[in-house]
Amino acid sequence: MTPIEAQVRIAELSKLINYHNYLYYQEDRTEISDFEFDKLLEELMLLEKQFPEYLEPDSPSQRVGGTITKEFETAEHQSRMLSLGNTYSEEELVAFDERVAKGLGHRNYEYFCELKFDGVAISLVYEKGKLIRAVTRGDGTRGDVVTENIKTIRNIPMSIHGKDIPEKFEVRGEIFLPLREFNKINQEREANGDPLLANPRNAASGTVKMQDSSIVAKRRLNCYFYQLSADELTVNRHDDAIHLLEKWGFNVSPTYAKCDNISNVLAYIEDWKEKRFELPLDTDGVVLKINGYDQREELGFTAKIPKWAIAYKYKAESAESQLLSITYQVGRTGAITPVANLSPVHLAGTTVKRASLHNANEIERLGLHEGDYVFVEKGGEIIPKITAVSIVKRKQGAKPIEYIDHCPECSTPLERKEGEAKHFCPNTANCPPQILGRIEHFVHKRAMDIDSLGTERIRTLIDQGYIANPADIYDLEEIQDQLLGLEMSQDQYEKTDDGILYISLTKAFFALTEGISLTAIQRFSDGQLEIPLAEVLENFKSFIRTSNKKVAQNIATIVKLEEILENSDIPKLEDYLPVSVVLYLLVGTQASLGELKAAARHEGTVHAILLKMALNLTKEQEEKVKKLKANTFQEGVISNMIDGIHASKSQSFEKVLFALGIRNIGENTAQILAKHFKNIDNLSNAGPDDLLAVNGVGETLVNSIQDYFSEKANLVIIQRLREKGLNFESSEVEKELLGDSLQGMKILASGKLNHFKRDEIIDFIEANGGQYIKSVSKALDFIIEGEEMGPSKKEKAQKLGVKMITEEEFLSMVGKTIET
Ligand code: IVH
Repeated sequence: MTPIEAQVRIAELSKLINYHNYLYYQEDRTEISDFEFDKLLEELMLLEKQFPEYLEPDSPSQRVGGTITKEFETAEHQSRMLSLGNTYSEEELVAFDERVAKGLGHRNYEYFCELKFDGVAISLVYEKGKLIRAVTRGDGTRGDVVTENIKTIRNIPMSIHGKDIPEKFEVRGEIFLPLREFNKINQEREANGDPLLANPRNAASGTVKMQDSSIVAKRRLNCYFYQLSADELTVNRHDDAIHLLEKWGFNVSPTYAKCDNISNVLAYIEDWKEKRFELPLDTDGVVLKINGYDQREELGFTAKIPKWAIAYKYKAESAESQLLSITYQVGRTGAITPVANLSPVHLAGTTVKRASLHNANEIERLGLHEGDYVFVEKGGEIIPKITAVSIVKRKQGAKPIEYIDHCPECSTPLERKEGEAKHFCPNTANCPPQILGRIEHFVHKRAMDIDSLGTERIRTLIDQGYIANPADIYDLEEIQDQLLGLEMSQDQYEKTDDGILYISLTKAFFALTEGISLTAIQRFSDGQLEIPLAEVLENFKSFIRTSNKKVAQNIATIVKLEEILENSDIPKLEDYLPVSVVLYLLVGTQASLGELKAAARHEGTVHAILLKMALNLTKEQEEKVKKLKANTFQEGVISNMIDGIHASKSQSFEKVLFALGIRNIGENTAQILAKHFKNIDNLSNAGPDDLLAVNGVGETLVNSIQDYFSEKANLVIIQRLREKGLNFESSEVEKELLGDSLQGMKILASGKLNHFKRDEIIDFIEANGGQYIKSVSKALDFIIEGEEMGPSKKEKAQKLGVKMITEEEFLSMVGKTIET
């Protein structure tokens, strides 16, 4: 590509990327996928690297982040970032208006109203049209300098052009994480088994202060601006200032309105009471401010808050509902979470049917009884909470809720560690939801990437005893033929305590008859609930007669069924038939009733019984049995699954390490550990000091790693996975290049560095195409001078005239590729 072509393409790409950013932020829609967007950005960055003369300071590539800040500097605000007085009622607002009128001595003023955004306040300072500093509110006087993180928010102008722009000005606004992004992040975290972010506000404030700005860039924060100040402002009213902000390209929420008296303010508040739930972010009230700047000055401030503005907070909406039941959910880690099922009630824009109860303490605190009427509120959290119980409405004799003491999934007695609020199911190895969670994590796209193993299939394989841990997945290949015909659901079965298996009447009638559809039988059965079995069989014979399909043959089968039931000692159940009897009627030429009865004992499905008996069924018999089963695994599904399992064996060590699901090892940590320790043995043998020496590893992680490797069962699983050929070692080829900005350069680092440990800087230099040299010599292109570099080395370098640069200069030289 010629320089001219590059210049044109860079301009084209920048325009295109800005257009898609505009769509995303301003119009809340997208025309291309995230992947396609990233491709455009990648192309732009590559061209800018090849032709740095065409890199514009406000290029969209400057927003991908990459700087690491260990500790944020602080800066003083030009004027204090004040808070606002709060009101919760109309009376208080009217009283505020009275104070304003009294302060000004007349009623000739306007209010500027907008919603109160629930995020984190930020101050941006621009000089000569360029963003030079972004500072958090902090204590109101000083805040943290977070400029690099803020630059990654794609709709915050990095520079503005045009006339009448003050030499220096400040804008203030509220950074927020859009609800859509918040939900997306939490869905991903849930799939990865990571703890969920509590609410969008905390998520936004945590993100603004992250150390790695490239992660901030991925979070898609947004900002609404609400204040402009400068020494030489040409406007004298707030609405004019807001219009200037809009003109200069700052994102202003379109919810603002001017009101010329307090009744109109009240109407604005009422208008937005419900409508605010349609906005892309959480809001918790309305801010009203006097529009005229002169009038603001006249009114002035108290010690902490302006007398010309106030916030009206909407009451957290509350609704009354009835407690129907409590479901106890078992999480991937075995933690039990009680959830209240409520009669549906409308609250804050949605219909609420469930509320979180957190743990046993919460149920006790509320004094919850069965069937209680409760008040639910929606706060910043996604799931509403129960705030109180209406004791007056409690029915006489209602029993207090008794917390469960056994796992609802596997019946193991629950445990509660001292000082912990949650109960746990300790049956880690065998409790189905815990197994399911671990296996779902193991096959996840970002782990072993076996997408042919979806939740329903995993659940089936777990429930029917085929898999209980990740290593079992790799044994499935050998038992493929057992999987053919495996039933996807066990809902149609019932089992007595002593292990006799029954099947629903509907399914049994469907398989035993010919020519009658399942829907027709379903309709018949719906009308037979809670009728003694003998009567149902009589009614079914009449039904066959009216159906007019193979009447004689079908009736003969039911008569035979009646005879067998009468002569057998198998207990009778309403709405169900013994599987052994039904099978005998279908395949009786191959096995006796006694044999079938014995085989059906302690099995959970027709498929399992037939596998056990290994009968030689005729085609016709097979078809009949198929009608008895639930949906089954077919050949296509199985080969798909096996292919996926097979392909997963080539996933890299870091993916395998992530897939194992060791507590606190997320994707990034897995990458760092795999790179540092190179193989699983080094990692499992590492002592606490070896682990702590790795950048990013702390006490909690050391404990989880050591706990994991001290469990014998885990070691067995690793050994089995290893035998199946999974990667437990980083291959050299994996040392992928992060970039080529240090291509051919010879580099030495000396002294203490802030962003790298000893071996990390070597890896990093090599990953960017450079060569690490251990001693000072003329051949060096430069030395990275860390803190407390040895004086003799420094002297030698100076003597030889080797260039020395700071760690910061080095980082900006390699650009944004650092990922630790
Ligand atoms: S105006 C003198 N407008 O609320 C203060 N603030 O309690 C002028 N906030 O720190 C602030 N939405 O972070 C203003 N539309 C809005 C707002 C808003 C949220 C926050 C802001 C401020 C806090 C004051």
